[in-house]
Amino acid sequence: MNNFRFYSPTEIIFGRGVQKETGKNIKKYSSKILFHYGGGSIKKSGLYEEIITSLKEAGVDFVELGGVQPNPRLSLVREGIKLCREHDIGFILAAGGGSVIDSAKAIAMGVGYEGDVWDFFMRKTTLTKSLPVAAVLTIPAAGSESSQGTVITNEETQMKIGFNSPLLRPVFSILNPELCFTLPQNQMAYGVCDMMAHIFERYFTNVKNNDLTDNLCEATLKAIIKNAPKLLKDNKDYNVWAEIMFSGNLAHNGLLGMGREEDWASHAIEHSLSAVYDIAHGAGLAIIFPAWMKYVYKHNTGLFAQFAVNVWGEKPEDTEETLAVKGIKRTEEFFKSLGLPTRIKDILNPTEQDLLLMSGKATAFGSLGNFIKLDANAVLDVYKLAL
Ligand code: NZQ
Ligand code: ZN
Repeated sequence: MNNFRFYSPTEIIFGRGVQKETGKNIKKYSSKILFHYGGGSIKKSGLYEEIITSLKEAGVDFVELGGVQPNPRLSLVREGIKLCREHDIGFILAAGGGSVIDSAKAIAMGVGYEGDVWDFFMRKTTLTKSLPVAAVLTIPAAGSESSQGTVITNEETQMKIGFNSPLLRPVFSILNPELCFTLPQNQMAYGVCDMMAHIFERYFTNVKNNDLTDNLCEATLKAIIKNAPKLLKDNKDYNVWAEIMFSGNLAHNGLLGMGREEDWASHAIEHSLSAVYDIAHGAGLAIIFPAWMKYVYKHNTGLFAQFAVNVWGEKPEDTEETLAVKGIKRTEEFFKSLGLPTRIKDILNPTEQDLLLMSGKATAFGSLGNFIKLDANAVLDVYKLAL
């Protein structure tokens, strides 16, 4: 087990009706905020009105900025920074999914920085201060509600880049599983794939002697695998969404990676795919992760065999090689059963040149991953395996 420091200070406020306490919880921090949201789902569901009411009841003034798109854009982040400066705003509330929360985090980073906020993503400067952010989560997926990351798309350069800092963890996040009842099936599946991917990025490690986090990863994956298919039949089962929402949070609040060396190659490979083709992150991961697994499993067949037995319930009598291959196949089949694409050609038709371009973008800051280091050529091979 590696040395580690674990600090995940986001207060999770979980359960039925908790969005009604949004204003009251913000009041502890600020009485003037930016209220940031997406393309309109919160207006349709009634959440927008509920939040406005709770802000007014608590005496919190707000300026609004809606319109965050999935794969959140740098241009809107810049607009948000301008708005916060004009109105002297010191706190941001994000109501939505990972895209809205990430956009809020990027705005929070940029307000107190004199240069362009994209400098942080291009590793030209370091973050020393950021405004506090809170979230009302409407889709369990990205884990941004308590993660230290933000991922922003620069639409001019078609680069989608993540930036991490402990300063970016929201001060609190409101998680009401009832808010997921309006999610379309494809968004549910994207979210489920993303949370599983966050666990895979931590589970497949070279560090030995991590029984506790091995088991925590496996248990979280099993809870997701048991519950997600139930949502295909009934999208309004509170307890099922509660399991998924809690799992999505645990998958990416940092705990499951403690003592381990995390990988994150598949995420970077996916980010290039969604930067160039503007596809959903979860769809891209359902395509990339099985291909990455096929590319790397021989590096530690025993760990992949353990995954097949402990997560998928395969019988341990088979050889490690057979089990490893079975585990990868079960993963791919599970994604398919949720209606996810598992091959690039299911949804896109890139040329060899396109794949080369994406491999270059994915490795713009150097080789990817830790389980096995992947240079641009290896990333190209993973894209080809995913075709
Ligand atoms: O924009 P609205 O109208 O709200 O619609 C959204 C959006 O179209 C819709 N939606 C959300 N909640 C809903 C709903 N529709 C009906 N009912 C609801 N309750 O769902 C669509 C997708 O939303 P989005 O926020 O894009 O989804 P997600 O949470 O999957 O976030 C994806 C983004 O997060 C990044 C991804 O790269 C991607 O850009 N990630 C962020 C991470 C982080 N900050 O730690 C880590 C992740 O690995 C990931 O990279
Ligand atoms: Zn992800």
